[in-house]
Amino acid sequence: MTLLVSFQHVRGGSGTSLISMVNTKILSNAGKVALLEMDFLNPLLHYVFPQKNLKAHVNDFLFGEASLDDILVDVGQDVNERPKRLWFGYMNPLEGARRRLELADAARDKRIIRALENVSWKIEGMPLDFVLIDTAPWSNCILDITTIISDIIFFIIKPNMIELTLFFHRYTTQLYRVVAKVVPIINFCSQVNEKHVQMIVKTLREKCPECENIITIPYYPDLASGLSKELFRDTSHSIYDDLRKVLLSTGFKERSFFQKHEISAPEEGLHTTRYLRKTP
Ligand SMILES: Nc1ncnc2c1ncn2[C@@H]1O[C@H](COP(=O)(O)OP(=O)(O)OP(=O)(O)O)[C@@H](O)[C@H]1O
Ligand SMILES: [Mg+2]
Repeated sequence: MTLLVSFQHVRGGSGTSLISMVNTKILSNAGKVALLEMDFLNPLLHYVFPQKNLKAHVNDFLFGEASLDDILVDVGQDVNERPKRLWFGYMNPLEGARRRLELADAARDKRIIRALENVSWKIEGMPLDFVLIDTAPWSNCILDITTIISDIIFFIIKPNMIELTLFFHRYTTQLYRVVAKVVPIINFCSQVNEKHVQMIVKTLREKCPECENIITIPYYPDLASGLSKELFRDTSHSIYDDLRKVLLSTGFKERSFFQKHEISAPEEGLHTTRYLRKTP
């Protein structure tokens, strides 16, 4: 079974792309993992991992014009990982391609719905263990369908009232009804905003019954200047430990993953990550 994990946010700059990329690297220890960039508003994979000859982009996949085999690039070598473990799917950053997708997304184009609902998550005929999706802060169709097909939604917010309010709006209008387990991550936490962080954690626990796991990620000054390839080659940065805890808290059970990090695996399986009290 492929576990589908989406990374969502309500305002740009929350750290969603960074967190999805680091999680991709961590999960490549546990199985075959693909990261699909679906943030058509701010694609950045091509900056961090430039590719010269891409056969097709995620845009083409969403229009049903390319398969996963066409769009996924094995970037294992780039990030000190074995081959055939870690793939990236790139969004086309050119203005024409972005505009085409933006219009189709706004019109809830049936091709996008079909592509995401009917896809068989395989690469070279082999099932992927994990598919991670980096999303835009807002969109109509892509975000809705991604939300519906996700098993886990990591929702990244900065510790401020605007993002908390927008999260609750998204939660009460959409997320509480889907089967995905929703896990909020509060990013950029520091001593300066400690009181805000505590208040946000308390409010989330009170108002959002499934948000019992709320993870906080510190502000790391060395990451503030942007993403670099180095961060994905060398896994010694503390953010890897933070995000391993995030994955553990949601019940990832892969033996190799837990053995590697010397943590005992929880008894329950991946299926229990779904929040059963919600109505699909
Ligand atoms: N915990 C952190 N500490 C310091 N800097 C961080 C942290 N998390 C993310 N950043 C930095 O914040 C910036 C924005 O991160 P990122 O691009 O991942 O955000 P995003 O939510 O994907 O934004 P967008 O919606 O615009 O794509 C990047 O420069 C990133 O390196
Ligand atoms: Mg992003």
